[in-house]
Amino acid sequence: MIWIQYLAFLWAVVITQIGFAHSEIHFLKRHEGESVVLPCEIEHRDPSPLGVYLKRTWLNHKEVLFKYTKEDFTVDNSADKSRISVSGDPSLYSLNITISQLNASDTDRYYCEFVVENLSSADEKIPSKTEFFLLVGAGGHWCGCSSYSSLLYVLSSAVGVLLLLLLLTGCVLCKVSVFF
Ligand SMILES: *[C@@H]1O[C@H](CO)[C@@H](O)[C@H](O)[C@H]1NC(C)=O
Ligand SMILES: *[C@@H]1O[C@H](CO)[C@@H](O)[C@H](O)[C@H]1NC(C)=O
Ligand SMILES: *[C@@H]1O[C@H](CO)[C@@H](O)[C@H](O)[C@H]1NC(C)=O
Repeated sequence: MIWIQYLAFLWAVVITQIGFAHSEIHFLKRHEGESVVLPCEIEHRDPSPLGVYLKRTWLNHKEVLFKYTKEDFTVDNSADKSRISVSGDPSLYSLNITISQLNASDTDRYYCEFVVENLSSADEKIPSKTEFFLLVGAGGHWCGCSSYSSLLYVLSSAVGVLLLLLLLTGCVLCKVSVFF
């Protein structure tokens, strides 16, 4: 189970690095039942944004919430209403979205998208500079050790094996060329 999660995490790291290098990605790891704060920011502009979406992509493509300026936010899944809270306002260019009682099914990529009115064309949708990769580990499945260090351990041993293989192939090729 842990290995599957590591693999999923590594895979996510790889695809996010390849495909979405334009934005900054924050990796967040939580246990089930914990909470996470997703800060959304956009640079100051005129006119100021009139709304903001929190969207999830990759595993599940959907809008998690929408907040129209100076109004309460609405959620796509009504069960989320009680476990999400929002501080700040899109018109102030910055918000903090808190999701509590996290569940393994919350694991995904998240980003905020600000809606800016444009009188001469359709409203513009501008993604915030930061994206989040949230990994929620099922309670008890994460071992007591720090998962990051085990991840590093796995990575470094993989690199070690690779180097050893290279060395071996090098030696064999070397011997072969000496022999001939
Ligand atoms: C969001 O949280 C950060 C760190 O706790 C805080 O400095 C900032 O003022 C908060 N912003 C809003 C809009 O609540
Ligand atoms: C997590 O979500 C799944 C599917 O939405 C649900 O079946 C499960 O009961 C949830 N677990 C917790 C601890 O809330
Ligand atoms: C509004 O849209 C037009 C056409 O797409 C664009 O040229 C203009 O820069 C936009 N205005 C603002 C304030 O973003």
